[in-house]
Amino acid sequence: MSKRVASVLVTGAMVAVLAACGSGGGGSADKGSGHKLVVGFSQVGAESGWRTANTKSIQEAAKKAGVELKFSDAQQKQENQIKAIRSFIQQKVDVIAFSPVVESGWDTVLKEAKDAHIPVILTDRAVDSKDESLYVSFLGSDFVEEGKKAGEWLVKEYAAASGDVNVVQLEGTTGSAPANDRKSGFADAVKGEPKFKVVASQTGDFTRAKGKEVMQAFLKSQPKIDVLYAHNDDMALGAIQAIEEAGRKPGTDIKIVSVDGVKDAFTAMSQGKINFDVECNPLLGDQLMDLAKKVKAGEQVPRRIKTEEGTFTPEQATAALPNRQY
Ligand code: AHR
Repeated sequence: MSKRVASVLVTGAMVAVLAACGSGGGGSADKGSGHKLVVGFSQVGAESGWRTANTKSIQEAAKKAGVELKFSDAQQKQENQIKAIRSFIQQKVDVIAFSPVVESGWDTVLKEAKDAHIPVILTDRAVDSKDESLYVSFLGSDFVEEGKKAGEWLVKEYAAASGDVNVVQLEGTTGSAPANDRKSGFADAVKGEPKFKVVASQTGDFTRAKGKEVMQAFLKSQPKIDVLYAHNDDMALGAIQAIEEAGRKPGTDIKIVSVDGVKDAFTAMSQGKINFDVECNPLLGDQLMDLAKKVKAGEQVPRRIKTEEGTFTPEQATAALPNRQY
């Protein structure tokens, strides 16, 4: 992971400059005091249960915080996000926040926001821009750590096994931070154990339908599958359907480790169909509104805010299910 994620440097100077510019030129210059903070938010899409919960959290938090939220759904397309950000710039919003569908290709539009003196906050996913002045803060999970937790579970689970353990991997959206990082974190955790063979790895685009489709192909092409590692729960849930339709038992014939910790996955865990789930918390709304207000006020904010997350065994998921919020 690049130093952008590791760093917890404070961006006081830059935030102060952006706030100063915002009160004199673009941004909320002509809105005057007493106006609501206006945040333009470009969401990835509605590809998963996690995403739906994330959108709800952001919309509810904006209402609660008295923030005017301009919400745009990019339908998993980078060009739509770029268009949305340009439109937020034209509308002179106070703060732009977005969850980038992929990591690269943002420098030009982020430079346009910077030139318009509108601060940008990254939520959930990171960008790979070398120029760290293009955004003020990044709020979200450590995806490398999540992949590592999945891999460490596998190593423990198969500690006593002597033969090869064949793993198939359902990757998230190609080029996205969670797909890149969950893949590398997992690979890192298992690299000392040659018995783990990733025999097939393909994107399922974080959706249930594609997770099912790709798992069907894996089941046809791979004579022996011991484990499925899915980069999110929706793909794991789609894969479970494929495994069952192929007459095999998910969680028993093929062990499943996944990421997110959404309710539907916990239900599957309580039925013995998923063996381990690494949590990725979508409830970022309150923190995001807080951050946007601070940035607008010229307060110092951390450059990197990591979400607190755990892991779940089937027993833990079953116990947590009645109170799970998403
Ligand atoms: O960026 C977070 C990931 O995106 C979640 O794990 C996944 O479910 C979503 O679509």
